[in-house]
Amino acid sequence: MSQIAPSILAADFNCLGKQIAQLEACGVRILHVDVMDGMFVPSISFGMPLIASIRKHTNLFFDVHLMVQEPIRYISDFVECGADSVTVHAEACHDVGETLREISRHNIKCGIAINPETEVDVLFPYLELVDLVLVMSVHPGFGGQKFMKETLQKVDSLRRFQKEKGLCYNIEMDGGICVENAAEIISHGVDIAVAGTAVFIGDIQRNVKKMGEVIRNAS
Ligand code: DX5
Ligand code: ZN
Repeated sequence: MSQIAPSILAADFNCLGKQIAQLEACGVRILHVDVMDGMFVPSISFGMPLIASIRKHTNLFFDVHLMVQEPIRYISDFVECGADSVTVHAEACHDVGETLREISRHNIKCGIAINPETEVDVLFPYLELVDLVLVMSVHPGFGGQKFMKETLQKVDSLRRFQKEKGLCYNIEMDGGICVENAAEIISHGVDIAVAGTAVFIGDIQRNVKKMGEVIRNAS
């Protein structure tokens, strides 16, 4: 069954703990954690201290999405502050294979991400090394952007490749996902739908419930 992963990038950091507790209360199991370095993407979000402080108050699965240049430098830091999975961008790594192996050496889940303009074939040599493939459906760097529908064909290719090769990974889609487009996204075989704005703007619990219903019906 597919599920939602709220992105705390859109949260109100003044009451982050309370908002995370609200997510847990309505059955969310994955928290998407967007780390931006101001180099790989133009914006800077937050880093280890924030993750370490929320780790003390929740058992949610921390799905850490590193929009960071040469993320291999920071894998052990993110593991130490509580990441359950670390996802790196293929475009950001000098040695993609070695970066993925470094994540797996820490006995956490390992993910690879691609930007909208990157061809999906770039990922094929690495897919036997990963637990998760993150398909960006907006240009990374900011929340609240419009979903790029053309990126859905990458999900189809990743499913075909998985079947052909007998591989086992989850597919996650990230950016611009909302109640209106979630059903179509899930129908392509997306396992995890990341949503920031659509969860945190307005009534969080109502938003999660509504999105959860759409995802369940489409799964
Ligand atoms: C974009 C981030 C996304 C983003 C999702 O760089 O990776 O996770 O926060 O936010 P929405 O759902 O608002 O597009
Ligand atoms: Zn993300």
